[in-house]
Amino acid sequence: MHSIAVLNQKGGVGKTTSVANLSAAFARTGLRVLMIDLDPQAHLTLNFGVDGKSEKSVYAVLEERVGIAEAAIPLSDTLSLIPSHLDLAAAEVELVSVVGREVILRDALEAVEDDYDLMLMDCPPSLGTLAINSLAAANEVLIPLQPHFLALQGLGKLLHETIRLVSKRINPSLRVGGVIMTMYEGSTRLATEIVDDVKDFFAASHDAKCPWSDARVFRTPIRRNIKLAEAPSHGVTIFEYEPRCNGAIDYAALADEWLEVNAERLGFGSSPDAVEEPVTAPDPTPENSASSESTEEPTATIPAAEPKLGSPDVAVPASSDVPDSEPAVENAVDEADLPPETYRLPEQHQADVTDTGDIANIA
Ligand SMILES: Nc1ncnc2c1ncn2[C@@H]1O[C@H](COP(=O)(O)OP(=O)(O)OP(=O)(O)O)[C@@H](O)[C@H]1O
Ligand SMILES: [Mg+2]
Repeated sequence: MHSIAVLNQKGGVGKTTSVANLSAAFARTGLRVLMIDLDPQAHLTLNFGVDGKSEKSVYAVLEERVGIAEAAIPLSDTLSLIPSHLDLAAAEVELVSVVGREVILRDALEAVEDDYDLMLMDCPPSLGTLAINSLAAANEVLIPLQPHFLALQGLGKLLHETIRLVSKRINPSLRVGGVIMTMYEGSTRLATEIVDDVKDFFAASHDAKCPWSDARVFRTPIRRNIKLAEAPSHGVTIFEYEPRCNGAIDYAALADEWLEVNAERLGFGSSPDAVEEPVTAPDPTPENSASSESTEEPTATIPAAEPKLGSPDVAVPASSDVPDSEPAVENAVDEADLPPETYRLPEQHQADVTDTGDIANIA
């Protein structure tokens, strides 16, 4: 079983949407997929129409009252969910005095190691005990990132202060798989510049000894698509709700891209048994051709661009390609190792996105 933590301490960037729909996309290829909802908000749980007060939840798993196999709810032949519990927030406090609290989930997962091919964890927008449990149990971290001018500071903090420390002290095999651009509107200058800055940062870290040395920005961005926001209220993923919309196309393409990179290495086989109808380009309905969600192409691709001095893989947009109306990004990341002052947030924003919770106490 290959374990993926989907994590960004910033709220509302598309973590839950990505876990639900990427997991469903993987499950459609025939892979056996387990999702774990580690967020007390229980959005992933509610997304699948499952009660957020189930006795057999991840909360009970962390309290060692039930095992993973008992808590897993089958949603289809190949997709299962361990639900969150609305009281899960209490676990952050209750586990404080428990020795080895960071690795409870990892230990519990050992029993189902051979029952699933992939496991995706939806993390809360904070970096406390629940997120640390997720990172301790993960082989890989995927980071959804919404192009936003504070996004890079948050990314720097996540990598340098949390992932680096967990990798050093708890889980040395933890790797950052990459960044998924979410709610992407490729025509904006801000989105293009942020993609370039993240690519630049990863390119400069290729030779460094850090968990993100082979991380990438996935070339498949997830475009803004209202259908992705609507599907959860029907208790289904985008593939059941609107299988021909841009959201379904993007998550299917992202799953394909991830498998392209990882399937052989993980022994999944080069062509997993497709069990469902392939996702195809949408009809030019008003919904799919609305300006904020439109594309002339069936899938969007993050462009590769001109090499930049010292960073051969880094894209630089030609100034004529982008509108001038968007504000420029002021915090470009140019170095392999970000000094803290380049990614620390201004004082007034710290409360929103810098909850480091337990991390400082990891023994
Ligand atoms: N590509 C998209 N296009 C349009 N809406 C989206 C897209 N991705 C996510 N959303 C919507 O944006 C909101 C936030 O997404 P989501 O819940 O996945 O973020 P999150 O990172 O899990 O949030 P939190 O940090 O609160 O857990 C939701 O209402 C979701 O439906
Ligand atoms: Mg969420």
